[in-house]
Amino acid sequence: MATVEIRNLRKAYGALEVLHDISIGIADGEFLALVGPSGCGKSTLLRTIAGLEMINGGEIRIDDRAVDDLAPKDRDIAMVFQNYALYPHMDVAANMGFALRLAGRPKAEIGDRVGRAAAILDLSRELARKPAQLSGGQRQRVAMGRAIVRDPKVFLFDEPLSNLDAKLRVQMRAEIRELQQRLGTTTIYVTHDQVEAMTMADKIAVLSAGRLEQVGAPLDLYRAPANLFVAGFIGSPQMNFVTGDLAAKAGADTIGIRPEHLVVGRDGDGWRGRVVAAEHLGSDTFIHVEVPDAGRLTARTVGDMPVGSGDEVVLAPMAGHLHRFGADGRAIRD
Ligand SMILES: Nc1ncnc2c1ncn2[C@@H]1O[C@H](COP(=O)(O)OP(=O)(O)OP(=O)(O)O)[C@@H](O)[C@H]1O
Ligand SMILES: [Mg+2]
Repeated sequence: MATVEIRNLRKAYGALEVLHDISIGIADGEFLALVGPSGCGKSTLLRTIAGLEMINGGEIRIDDRAVDDLAPKDRDIAMVFQNYALYPHMDVAANMGFALRLAGRPKAEIGDRVGRAAAILDLSRELARKPAQLSGGQRQRVAMGRAIVRDPKVFLFDEPLSNLDAKLRVQMRAEIRELQQRLGTTTIYVTHDQVEAMTMADKIAVLSAGRLEQVGAPLDLYRAPANLFVAGFIGSPQMNFVTGDLAAKAGADTIGIRPEHLVVGRDGDGWRGRVVAAEHLGSDTFIHVEVPDAGRLTARTVGDMPVGSGDEVVLAPMAGHLHRFGADGRAIRD
């Protein structure tokens, strides 16, 4: 168990600055999700923590000790990658015990630790099988097992579920979270899936183009995004943004309202517009409406709403759910 402290971290590849002045603190046992669009620097940040990349400035501390001059193997960290590449010719037990064998641990200890990890991961019956004889979810668990057997201070995950189909991903994310809580291991988890981040993490750090946009509890980011980027990134369907006169009237450069905070009616007060498309999911209806002066807005209603394109509707923003942003893109707080 350990704290992780990232202070004013900078990383460049030659002239290309990839991480700019990143500072994040992760408490002992905490699960931090690192999110952001492709190429924003998530893997790079993870790799600097693991010691797989040199840094150009700042500091990384694990358990209040600077690790800059420690080799990856001395940082007491276990990393699970997206392409976790199990050794195909080794059985599950050998795959899980590989790092321990490499470290020269005694055979009995390896057997013991692999056995315990396999029990935790429900892989006890698969220990003698080769990776090709496993399901995708079992293979994923073997990759987790390789990390667990080392009993590291910190787990680093880089999109570990992106190779799995949607249903298995949902199941595995619950399993990983449950396991992490049981073991109490400090975890940094990279994903570009914001639902994964919202459901798994104690805290989310949002990165964009190598800069840290906001760090906070999932619902804090949802309720009070610090800027336009975070507002647009967290939440699905995306927050609606409106500029121009409607925003100016609210004393903002841009106003934002989430689809679930627009009440759809046939008349009354609100923004009148014409439905251009309706997506009927059964559980929800996503209604896309063209509103003069506001543009295309999306509303989300629970259950099936009988609307179709061409219908005239009125969108009424729920009180207290309007977000205001200034010309610099930062949220304006009341
Ligand atoms: N070894 C390298 N040499 C030069 N540039 C690199 C290297 N590795 C990454 N980059 C660049 O650094 C930036 C950040 O890459 P990184 O892999 O950290 O992004 P990411 O957020 O993990 O993206 P993704 O979601 O696609 O995995 C990108 O512009 C990438 O092209
Ligand atoms: Mg990556």
